Amino acid sequence: MKYQLPRGTKDILPGEVKIWQKIEDVCRKIFEKYGFAEIRTPVFEQTELFARSIGTTTDIVTKEMYTFLDKKGRSLTLRPEETAPVVRAGLQNNLISPDSIAKLYYLGPMFRYERPQAGRQRQFNQAGLEFFGSLDPKVDVEVITVAVELFNALGLEGLEVDLNSVGCKQCQPKYIEALKQTLNKQAKELCEDCKERLKMNPLRVLDCKNKGCQKFITKVPSATETLCPECKVHFEQVCKYLKARGITYNSKVRLVRGLDYYTRTVFEVVSKKLGAQNAVCGGGRYDNLVKDLGGPGIPAIGFAVGMERIVELIKDQVAGQDLKPALEYFIVCMNAEAREVAFGLLTKFRAEGKTAEMDFQNKSFKAQMKAADKSGAKFAVIIGEEELRQKAVTVKDMKSGDQTKAAL
Ligand code: HAM
Repeated sequence: MKYQLPRGTKDILPGEVKIWQKIEDVCRKIFEKYGFAEIRTPVFEQTELFARSIGTTTDIVTKEMYTFLDKKGRSLTLRPEETAPVVRAGLQNNLISPDSIAKLYYLGPMFRYERPQAGRQRQFNQAGLEFFGSLDPKVDVEVITVAVELFNALGLEGLEVDLNSVGCKQCQPKYIEALKQTLNKQAKELCEDCKERLKMNPLRVLDCKNKGCQKFITKVPSATETLCPECKVHFEQVCKYLKARGITYNSKVRLVRGLDYYTRTVFEVVSKKLGAQNAVCGGGRYDNLVKDLGGPGIPAIGFAVGMERIVELIKDQVAGQDLKPALEYFIVCMNAEAREVAFGLLTKFRAEGKTAEMDFQNKSFKAQMKAADKSGAKFAVIIGEEELRQKAVTVKDMKSGDQTKAAL
């Protein structure tokens, strides 16, 4: 084949699309039950929007963005994530303001130039939501509850919630300093990327998957040790309300996220069944982002779910099930005149809301019966010479083989 799909992308074929549609339906239903409204933004934005929000020294911004100049020389980027675009759209359309709550959700493709591997693509899809306008720890728990309910509704088992707090503008710098001091002692033994991260953005070292670096990461101080009193209380309350709602979580004291905008609560939902890329959902609070992007000070929290990773988990559950759309009638014709009648009958079936197909390749009667069988149709509707004479059809139940005559 001359043309192949680009590296790191996937075609989603008709059978699998059924799984996607199911997941998308469940996402919409649950997000809307919790009062979130759908928003759709363009797949590209000004590059500066992502650099400012995600952070100029993060892997996403330094290595992974699909950035291009348009014909007028403006720098644009295919969205690597949707939080910043939602903030941009929320501000531009006056959907978010300091004295009201705004709840928005989205579904769609994101783009990151990463090294493709199982669970990691260059075009992938997220379903996510953002809750604007409250610092209340109950809101953190509301948002985490939506994620948990979503996975329960999809019937996914064995998922775990990892939770941490990365503090605020006041206490986060203290944590970064403590981190620097500890890691500087091992600087020579860190991977080349982490040596750079240690200088530019020490928090990002904690994300490193390199085994050599992991050895040191388990020994660094935890973010919760340096939290200021307000952040400490906030985190304790989040834990308290999670327990009250019966949501179990792992306290992951070194959990930080790959994006710089987070403050206080950060969380991930992980699956043991997924290998290295095990996070099916990631999110957290970002109380400074709206202001950093030019808006008023509005606290916010949200998450995004990686759709491909959920599909992977669901595929295991539906293995062996027939995912083809159910077909009711396949019309089988003996001759050219019957085909004319069949074409009219197709219209009639569809007008009544029924699914129906016929052969458009002039196949023999035998081949048409085979096609009817292969299509999974419940009934074959046979039109032969006798049927034409009687203005009738023979309806064959494909499962039992029973045949009955019916008026055309
Ligand atoms: P993120 O952790 O970068 O967060 O992505 C969220 C989820 O998207 C991940 O947990 C993973 O399931 C999926 N994902 C990320 N990169 C890839 C990839 N290359 N291939 C396949 N799946 C991937 C965010 O994007 C934040 N905007 C989430 C958020 C919303 N925080 C607050 N609000």
